[in-house]
Amino acid sequence: MALETSCDETAAAVVRGLGEVLASEIASQIELHRPYGGVVPEVASRNHTLNLRTVLETTLTRSGISLRQIQIFAATSGPGLNSSLLIGNTVAKALALASNRPFYAINHLEGHLLSPFQTDQFDGNIPPFLGLIVSGGHTMLVKVNGFGVYQLLGATRDDAAGEAFDKGAKMLGLPYPGGPEIERNARGGDPAAFSFPRGLIQDGTLDFSFSGLKTALLYQTRRMSDGEVFKRLPDLCASYQAAIVDSLVAKTEAACAQTDLKVVALSGGVSCNLAVQQGLRRMAHRIGLELRVSPNALATDNAAMIGFVASLRWRNGLVPSPLSEEVDPNLPLLIP
Ligand code: KG4
Ligand code: ZN
Repeated sequence: MALETSCDETAAAVVRGLGEVLASEIASQIELHRPYGGVVPEVASRNHTLNLRTVLETTLTRSGISLRQIQIFAATSGPGLNSSLLIGNTVAKALALASNRPFYAINHLEGHLLSPFQTDQFDGNIPPFLGLIVSGGHTMLVKVNGFGVYQLLGATRDDAAGEAFDKGAKMLGLPYPGGPEIERNARGGDPAAFSFPRGLIQDGTLDFSFSGLKTALLYQTRRMSDGEVFKRLPDLCASYQAAIVDSLVAKTEAACAQTDLKVVALSGGVSCNLAVQQGLRRMAHRIGLELRVSPNALATDNAAMIGFVASLRWRNGLVPSPLSEEVDPNLPLLIP
């Protein structure tokens, strides 16, 4: 059983064997945070406390497994909001202690990273691959040499891709979370209507930058009346989205060229975006790569991906985490 409460989703899952998902429940707090235009940490942790018991009980009922049958417990221990991480982490530790079962503290980013492999066909082997994690808090390229062997190749120097979507949407008067809103409004828009910058695209590194793009959108909207912004919303959204897609595609292609990896795995909330998927798919097809995309249910925050990593750790004979291990809001993805 895995719990995930790193941000604003209260999530629990029961997985079996090599990551087969028996039940995965998510209580979203999006509506509560929407009036603030982003996640308010105190509101998030308070609602995890209120929701977790129900989410846990529903997950167990739907899984058909009783608490006594659970063999290992796991929870996200970082990165994320401290007071939110504490809730799921403490509850999972308490359940492990009371049932005399092992507890695994799992890195949220490792959950995202491996989620494209969590399918019914998974054979237990994580092949070498290039991971592109694109979420609200992170944008990174990771070279994976096998389970637990990770090397960070590049990351955003300012905003994450999801954050760029969220902040761009806010400027355009669209609600939080902005990613799905921009994607929806971009339909029928012309991606070449506005020329927005592709940050760091020629700088030779594998890093990303989205702050210049955000500023460019701000200046563009300042030059327009509210009526014009409304009228040109599809073009603005399509052009803004295209700039994000181009940056992601260019750096992923460069990382593949540098590493000679043949498999790219896309994960995190932004991987739900069809323009992002299409941009990467075209590039993968052009240069002969295999692209794996995490299924939508595993792309945005969920506990099944945490359970998957925990079951891999257990099956690989890795020692459980001590109950004294603390949560870490800035937990890095381990680099050997
Ligand atoms: O992985 P996630 O659920 O949470 C974090 O770990 O951050 O990602 C949430 C982010 C938000 O910024 C949201 O706007 C973005 O994923 N997102 C999208 C889409 N769906 C969610 N961005 C672009 N297009 C989407 N369809
Ligand atoms: Zn996440």
